[in-house]
Amino acid sequence: MALIKLHGVSRYYGEGNTLVKALEGIDLEIEKGEIIALLGPSGSGKTTLLNIIAALDVPTDGEYFFREQEVPDGNVEKMTTFRRENIGYIFQFFNLLGDLTAIENVMLVQQFIGRGNKESAQSFLDTVGLNGLEDRFPSQMSGGQRQRVAIARSLAKKPKLILGDELTGNLDSETSTVVMEALIKTCQDDGVTTIFVTHDSALTRFATRVIKLDSGKIISDKKIAFDEE
Ligand SMILES: Nc1ncnc2c1ncn2[C@@H]1O[C@H](COP(=O)(O)OP(=O)(O)O)[C@@H](O)[C@H]1O
Ligand SMILES: [Mg+2]
Repeated sequence: MALIKLHGVSRYYGEGNTLVKALEGIDLEIEKGEIIALLGPSGSGKTTLLNIIAALDVPTDGEYFFREQEVPDGNVEKMTTFRRENIGYIFQFFNLLGDLTAIENVMLVQQFIGRGNKESAQSFLDTVGLNGLEDRFPSQMSGGQRQRVAIARSLAKKPKLILGDELTGNLDSETSTVVMEALIKTCQDDGVTTIFVTHDSALTRFATRVIKLDSGKIISDKKIAFDEE
């Protein structure tokens, strides 16, 4: 059973002379456990695709199934519930709450979903290599550390799917590697499906599959065979 199925998904903005075809006829199936790098030039539709998969946005045309169920596409409350139950979204600019410490940021998400405690919040911070920094506020952490708190927070939701939109876009390449390693290792260990948008083709080494978009269409889709270690 595919985790995600998109059939003929299009997303248009505007009309007439100002019509923009952000996505056009996207067909895509994603299996549980895949780690997908989504590449493409600026304006090619990467964010639009991620937002549709997250049910933050609704296709103009086409169908979207998540675990064989049609994803709600009009009712804001149902879309929110779908996101809460299934999706961890990591943004480029961290989106942490500044007056909460690292561990409080993680615990807040656990409260939303009605489970979790200080120990499990701590274990998610440990997973991303932040042991000892749990009581710092975001302003007392580096960009890479903040982004790892954001990852820990997403993981704490126990989502079926993690989406990252240029999640290392703000970080230098060394820090990007640390952040991606923290994310990918945990997702692999837990079999969490991941889709990350990136400009940086070096980061495709973390992926099991690389999908390229251009002008709202998929122009290439390749699975990567890893060498046995
Ligand atoms: N809210 C919007 N209104 C109008 N056009 C939009 C909107 N959001 C995105 N677009 C257009 O859709 C296309 C795809 O955008 P986007 O998905 O953000 O691309 P990417 O993330 O690959 O840079 C671009 O041409 C962009 O200008
Ligand atoms: Mg974008």
